[in-house]
Amino acid sequence: MSSAALARLMARGAAFLGTDVAIMAGAMSWVSERHLVAAISNAGGFGVIACGAMTPELLDAEIAGTRALTDKPFGVNLITMHPQLFDLIGVCAKHRVGHVVLAGGLPPAGSLDAIKGNGARLLCFAPALSLAKKLIRSGVDALVIEGMEAGGHIGPVSTSVLAQEILPEIADQLPVFIAGGIGRGEAIAGYLEMGAAGVQLGTRFVCATECIAHPAFKKAFIRASARDAVASVQIDPRLPVIPVRALRNAGSDLFTVKQREVAQLLDEGKVEMAEAQLQIEHYWAGALRRAVIDGDVENGSMMAGQSVGMVKAEEPVADIIAALLAEASAALSARSAA
Ligand SMILES: Cc1cc2nc3c(=O)[nH]c(=O)nc-3n(C[C@H](O)[C@H](O)[C@H](O)COP(=O)(O)O)c2cc1C
Repeated sequence: MSSAALARLMARGAAFLGTDVAIMAGAMSWVSERHLVAAISNAGGFGVIACGAMTPELLDAEIAGTRALTDKPFGVNLITMHPQLFDLIGVCAKHRVGHVVLAGGLPPAGSLDAIKGNGARLLCFAPALSLAKKLIRSGVDALVIEGMEAGGHIGPVSTSVLAQEILPEIADQLPVFIAGGIGRGEAIAGYLEMGAAGVQLGTRFVCATECIAHPAFKKAFIRASARDAVASVQIDPRLPVIPVRALRNAGSDLFTVKQREVAQLLDEGKVEMAEAQLQIEHYWAGALRRAVIDGDVENGSMMAGQSVGMVKAEEPVADIIAALLAEASAALSARSAA
């Protein structure tokens, strides 16, 4: 840790995570597998496995594989709409995973008790103050507040506004981690000073040397600027799709075609709304795999946040974390000297 002031501001978040520094690497489907997750945790941060659409067997192997690479704490991110959610929770319990992050909506009935009953700590996303309060009442252990600058699925409000609205109201009740649009340590220092226990970054870690993303995927990140990371557009008001922020490419147009296809199936009564939305999510998972694993940066989904403009080179995770800490420390000293 670079400075006593930063260590003090990060103490609560680091204690909650069991890490040296209160920096979480947000789970990224296909990207956040054992190598990146272990590298983040070994560097003092908190890695999170993205379970995505994995089967319980695959998650079991991924957790075991990660444990083989690190003895430091890491978490598992589960998507609430996964049809085998409770089996996945069981796999986390079997491996005594200390922290489970539930993404994709409020925890389904029984999931909170199942996770906490197994002794794990539960983190949830709160996209608005009212939902944050509801989640606190239901007994979650920590919250992630993620703004629309983030890569992947996004809400409608910016990180800076959510942080101002939510932190003063709840930061004294439980640890809150701020995510979305963080590319440098000065911003980390700012959110910590506002009461955040820590931060979560995704985009900034994609070009880590240890990350298995295809070289073409990383190259596109290094070239891109903030304005290239755009939110997908909903083309049919009858089919509500959660916007996804990604680098603009031919794949962005393919998503428009996919929405028309699914909207037509809805019109013809061939699918129900829930099935239509699941088809959209499957589309994203496949498209992201095509880009991250196969390197098809034209037709695949290049999920990226606006902080992509601050990703300048491929570098080891330890260097990324060291740079973030140095920037945060310098910002804090500059403020205290003023
Ligand atoms: C390529 C990519 C894939 C992502 N996949 C997931 C996911 O599977 N589950 C999830 O909860 N968040 C996912 N996210 C969001 C990240 O976990 C993280 O919250 C976000 O990247 C933070 O914002 P930032 O990109 O501005 O740092 C993804 C983000 C990216 C860039």
